[in-house]
Amino acid sequence: MENEPTTCPAGSGEPAGLPTGRDAGCPFDPTAGLGELREQDPLVQMRYPDGHLGWLATGYATVRSIFADPRFSSRYEKMHYPFADLGPIPPAPVGDMTGIDAPEHTRFRKLLISRFTVRRMRELTTRAEEITTDYLDAMERGGGPVDLVEAFAQPIPALMICELLGVPSADRDKFQRWANIMITQSTDQEAAGAAMAALGAYMSDLVAEKRANPTDDMLGDLTASDLSHDELTGLGAFLLGAGLETTANMIALGTFALLNNPDQLALLRADPDLAPQAVEELMRYLTIAHTTMKSALEDVELDGKVIRAGETVTMSIEAANRDPLRFPDPDVLTLDRKATGHLGFGHGIHQCLGQQLARVEMQVAIPALIARFPSLRLAAPADDVPLRTGASIYGVHSLPVTWDEA
Ligand code: HEM
Repeated sequence: MENEPTTCPAGSGEPAGLPTGRDAGCPFDPTAGLGELREQDPLVQMRYPDGHLGWLATGYATVRSIFADPRFSSRYEKMHYPFADLGPIPPAPVGDMTGIDAPEHTRFRKLLISRFTVRRMRELTTRAEEITTDYLDAMERGGGPVDLVEAFAQPIPALMICELLGVPSADRDKFQRWANIMITQSTDQEAAGAAMAALGAYMSDLVAEKRANPTDDMLGDLTASDLSHDELTGLGAFLLGAGLETTANMIALGTFALLNNPDQLALLRADPDLAPQAVEELMRYLTIAHTTMKSALEDVELDGKVIRAGETVTMSIEAANRDPLRFPDPDVLTLDRKATGHLGFGHGIHQCLGQQLARVEMQVAIPALIARFPSLRLAAPADDVPLRTGASIYGVHSLPVTWDEA
């Protein structure tokens, strides 16, 4: 979703809208207005674009406690949108788990949790390694410059979702094409919408096929559950969106951040065992899922204030992950710090179900890329890299890179 960036008059009291966007020359940092607000007060009242007087949470402890508090609802239709006046927000589409509460949410979560086991994720590691090698080979054969999003960052999570859901090999090319349009052309709403509709129709046919001939994969397994056809189709589409746009942007933006921090790049290249720690730090530092909202179901006392029932709280996850009270020197990318506890995958009952899969993909793909191309560099000035400013998942639309041929 694209939104118009608004600016915050820093230090002027109650902010009129959420400070968004990126400051010139700072593609990896939340806008300075957010940090200034956090310093003044981690929880402030905020005037929303539709006139609602709600709240903005920017401090780590505050955001984390709201995530964990069952007195807040995640239902979209109860919320006011902090980026623009879009009118009333419709309820979550069928299958979108992030926009519903218990007990509906619990039903989906219980069904899925057993499909994301450590054992299943370990099996998927081997596939992630094979897929990564294939795409690195193709890059090496074709030579640079390439758009890293299209050539590497997007296909790996797309194929991993195919593995997880059980998309047959014969359909993966067309699946890839739609996914690629959704990721790389997210500025072209019409093309992205058409690709999304084609994928939705495909998913519906795939679910029907799996019901007739169950297979040993997530969609195949779930045909044995009590989910209806529409619920399973919606869930498939939701999982695709949840796992693709996020991981693809982390791989591409993570690479951009490493190229921009050559000392950190050298550290990871010299010690690939640092990958698990490095990925946590990249998740914290980049916080691509930067903002989420909740609505109070009852009056809640927090940080010496009272959030009234029905009021929306916007949680700036990116500001929370840069809170110096939780992470020393938060604005410095430090791959060997302990960044665990970051909120980049959310927290509480909606905490990312796919986080182990995402970790596997990032821990395999990023070190393999920098090992294969020791001279990897941007093929355009850093300021020309098109940023996904205003998108609900931050990242880059494309990342031109090149390297010296061996
Ligand atoms: C680096 C990549 C990823 C990031 C940054 C990310 C981030 C998040 C965040 C912040 C949430 C919580 C949303 C909220 O509370 O409003 C979430 C939920 C979720 N994510 Fe991820 N995610 C990633 C990868 C994945 C993958 C690979 C999958 C699955 C294939 C996935 C599936 C889900 C699901 C199903 C939920 C909803 C959980 C629930 O509502 O109970 N995510 N993710």
